Amino acid sequence: MTNPVIAVFGTNGALGKPTLDALTSSTFSSKISFPIRAITRDPSKYTSNDEIKYYKADSADIDSFKDVLTGVDVLINLGGTSDIQHYDTPLDALLKYAKDTVKLYIPSQFGTELDVTDLPGFLQVKTAHSEKARAAGVKTIDVINSLFFVPGSYLYELIYGFNPETNVAVVRGDKGTKFDTSYLGDVGKAVAAIVTFGDYSKLPNKIRISSDRITLDDALDNYEKIHPGVKITREYVSKAETYKKAHELYDAGFDFKDFLFYLEYFISQGTDKGVSFSKNENELINPGESLFKWTKYGSI
Ligand SMILES: NC(=O)c1ccc[n+]([C@@H]2O[C@H](COP(=O)([O-])OP(=O)(O)OC[C@H]3O[C@@H](n4cnc5c(N)ncnc54)[C@H](OP(=O)(O)O)[C@@H]3O)[C@@H](O)[C@H]2O)c1
Repeated sequence: MTNPVIAVFGTNGALGKPTLDALTSSTFSSKISFPIRAITRDPSKYTSNDEIKYYKADSADIDSFKDVLTGVDVLINLGGTSDIQHYDTPLDALLKYAKDTVKLYIPSQFGTELDVTDLPGFLQVKTAHSEKARAAGVKTIDVINSLFFVPGSYLYELIYGFNPETNVAVVRGDKGTKFDTSYLGDVGKAVAAIVTFGDYSKLPNKIRISSDRITLDDALDNYEKIHPGVKITREYVSKAETYKKAHELYDAGFDFKDFLFYLEYFISQGTDKGVSFSKNENELINPGESLFKWTKYGSI
């Protein structure tokens, strides 16, 4: 296959910069057709160059995607969950303008392994979106990275069950329960590794990646380390008790305000319940860490 023409949607979100940085890095750049087409509502905020060309498009208008998607081989969707349009419009536009050229679609999954959770229909919008792309005949790979870690943000300052105003943490699950976590930069590199893989038919439809495996206590210990003088009061709630509470809540109907609690629930339930993988595809996409080193939590 010749080097793929790649479009990236949602470039101003959490994954935009890490993904563009990875694609333009020397590790991957020889396997890409430049310029990468970066989609934004406001190209005036950016400067296009030989490597990245910014295109204006808005999810409210499918036809605004015509120029950017005509002729693409790959679309990477990094849109957020705030509006279903961020999922569906780029895909609908891909099918309208690039049906004959597209070889790979990466939908905006980037989180929980939804097909193993025991909460039926949890984030169904993401599952249905991937199914829709596959039903249209497009090779579609869900990148499942479990929970992000980012210094200054996810799992450094924002820790599931921890209230930094009171310094009290509710730690759910049996002590020592590990979950997978991925550094944002590694997620960008993993996406770059997938889109430059070559024969996409050799890749599964679900690629689980993991930079590290940690416990909530590891994250709380790290918080105390980076905030000298802070001592967190930890309240432990069992796996069984959390199961009961989560199912009662979910049976009454999903409410987005409980989203973070459900992530605590997935953490508490351990392996193959959403955020702790019994198996991952790290080795498939980055054999022997030949492309990049996975970043250890707490090392940055
Ligand atoms: N695993 C985890 O811990 C974790 C944590 C957070 C998020 N995630 C996942 O990561 C993915 C990205 O989430 P995010 O929070 O980074 O997304 P986001 O910030 O809500 O959205 C990403 C970008 O989409 C673009 N966008 C928004 N409205 C648009 C519109 N009407 N038309 C065109 N573009 C529009 C924006 O770029 P422009 O301003 O350039 O238009 C925006 O910056 C999601 O799948 C989310 O679920 C995972």
